Amino acid sequence: MANAAGAAALRRIASPANDENELTHQHDIALKSTAAGKARELERQTPLVPNHRTARLETRATRHACIRQRQLLSIAKNNRRRKKAMTSSQTEMIRNHRAMKQREALFRRFGYNSAASLKFILAKVLPLPGHVLEISTGKGRFLAALAKHVERITTLDIEPKEQRQAKLYVRYAGASCPIRYVIHNAERLPWPDARFDSVVSMNTFHHLERPMRVFKEMLRVLKPGGKLVVCDFSPRGFQIFDRIHRFEGGTHPRLKNGLADFGRLLRRRGWKTKRFKGCNQEILAATSPLASTEHRKFS
Ligand SMILES: C[S@@+](CC[C@H](N)C(=O)[O-])C[C@H]1O[C@@H](n2cnc3c(N)ncnc32)[C@H](O)[C@@H]1O
Repeated sequence: MANAAGAAALRRIASPANDENELTHQHDIALKSTAAGKARELERQTPLVPNHRTARLETRATRHACIRQRQLLSIAKNNRRRKKAMTSSQTEMIRNHRAMKQREALFRRFGYNSAASLKFILAKVLPLPGHVLEISTGKGRFLAALAKHVERITTLDIEPKEQRQAKLYVRYAGASCPIRYVIHNAERLPWPDARFDSVVSMNTFHHLERPMRVFKEMLRVLKPGGKLVVCDFSPRGFQIFDRIHRFEGGTHPRLKNGLADFGRLLRRRGWKTKRFKGCNQEILAATSPLASTEHRKFS
């Protein structure tokens, strides 16, 4: 009796159909879990493919197992590659964030609080309706803060390296609106007239070679009735950054045209303007006249 049962069991184990069913079952389990672990498990349980070439001569079940094992190993390899790529980009993002925070700590030691300045600016200029154009991206401090409050942003900078850092910074900051990054000179914006609902710029004008050209371009691409915001450091803010750059062995540029010049120009052409000062910043916020011919008269 015992011998008969043993023989039946041996027949079951030896049957190719059972082999195949068993292997298919194992493959299903393998696919449901991590490919690498299950490929190894499959190899351990079915020590049948020491060499893929000789496997061709084996039974159908053996061939099937061999193919599945190779598939699983290739999935595992791709997963490892993807994980490695993801880890290195995450590392880059974290490093960038750390560097930005270290720099902000240095600013604070000299008397400039980035977070407080951003909060102050946003409190004065929001809401910014519709599609917003930002001149220039820099390392993305204003962009990351702005992205939490507006519908959609296009941001432009002449320096690809700066924008790359801004992308990392914005990614670290998390959820935001859709952002399009553009590399271009702000002196000749690559858009037709009246394209954006709002046009903004923070702490950029003192870096521009020809600020008036950029200013006129900002007005050109703004829709009639749209909102324009230009912020830059206050005199005390400039003093702080002079000291920071001297401390680092460099120099910091100054504004060629003050925000007051821009404000006067706008008011003469019927724009409504507001000025704000605080947190080492100055802000010019303006709304263009609704008549489309009026708002771009700046030749
Ligand atoms: C201090 S950063 C801007 C800071 C940024 N808005 C922020 O909030 O972090 C000044 C930026 O102006 C950019 N820039 C200078 N001249 C430019 C030009 N002609 N067109 C576009 N961007 C320009 C520089 O590449 C630099 O990234």
